[in-house]
Amino acid sequence: MAIPPPDPSSALPRSLRVSIIGAGRVGSTLAQRIVEKDLADVVLLDIDAGLPQGIALDLLQARGIERHDRKLIGTANYGDTIGSDVVVITAGFPRQPGMDRSDLLRSNAEIVVNAARQVVAYSPNAILLIVTNPLDVMTYLAWKTTGLPSQQVMGMAGVLDSARLQTFISLELGVSSHDVIALVLGGHGDLMVPLPRYCSVGGVPITELMDAATIARLVERTRRGGTEIVELMQKGGAYFAPASSACLMLEAILRNESRLIPVSAYVQGEYGLNDVYIGVPCRLDRRGIVNIVELELSEVERSALHLSAHAIRRDIDQALGLIGHLL
Ligand code: NAI
Ligand code: 2OP
Repeated sequence: MAIPPPDPSSALPRSLRVSIIGAGRVGSTLAQRIVEKDLADVVLLDIDAGLPQGIALDLLQARGIERHDRKLIGTANYGDTIGSDVVVITAGFPRQPGMDRSDLLRSNAEIVVNAARQVVAYSPNAILLIVTNPLDVMTYLAWKTTGLPSQQVMGMAGVLDSARLQTFISLELGVSSHDVIALVLGGHGDLMVPLPRYCSVGGVPITELMDAATIARLVERTRRGGTEIVELMQKGGAYFAPASSACLMLEAILRNESRLIPVSAYVQGEYGLNDVYIGVPCRLDRRGIVNIVELELSEVERSALHLSAHAIRRDIDQALGLIGHLL
């Protein structure tokens, strides 16, 4: 018996589509997470000839085992990203040992600006999720160059930094990761702002479960979370936890979940900060960033956030000096 071909004129709803620019380690792992969670079809784009096509085909060949019907396209052509609901930019260079995230500034700024401009030409209503480092600066440049509303342009880092702290708390106390909540705000760098007062296990603040020295040790390991991995791997950096973190944000957006999570967002007066992208708690749903939530911060916490914002602003100004003519 023959199975009739699908009706091309059928009024079935269109599938959600995520395009990932950069099919390297973070991009390809994220593609895998997206299709295996049955979140969306995926377009993987990279300048490395054959790479995105090969990865897309490899992931497609696993469909029958992973049991999903998601489509994957590998391409070097931005036209194939047309109509994306979300575009994730991971294109660029990762850190090498001894490199600070800001060292990546010059090389990655041009890549991100070009990519953002091209994706928006084909998907003017897409939400942009930036992953490339230095994260907060790249997110600012993507927003600036596309002219999209800031609610639609955001960066991934706070979910990752918070996940790292969450893991270290759970390991230290020997409790399930299901019960641990951790919160890290600020820029994605050495000046990130972990907030132990807002970390808890089963609703109990960790400040009641651990002494100050232990908390300080976990916070320091979180700050160096990415560096520790770069030093171990010697070639490139983390990608499993980063891909999981980006995927959590995609789920919040595509499934319209109204999550409250730390996101690199454009601040306009919130926390007394202006004209930077920085990690702050945001409500995220299908529209993007619905609002920024202002927590009560102590003087010390607030100063730390301002110090972090100051460093990001300095890097933004440096980036604008280097590639401002492209914007
Ligand atoms: P990778 O080197 O494995 O992949 C980068 C890919 O980008 C490569 O395949 C390369 O061919 C591609 N690429 C370079 N220029 C391009 C262009 N103009 N257009 C399209 N593709 C281009 O690097 P990995 O490990 O995937 O990291 C990607 C970026 O994400 C790095 O900047 C890294 O520092 C950053 N990152 C950020 C994290 C965060 O928390 N925000 C966490 C982990 C990584
Ligand atoms: C990380 O934190 C390299 O930013 C990347 O792992």
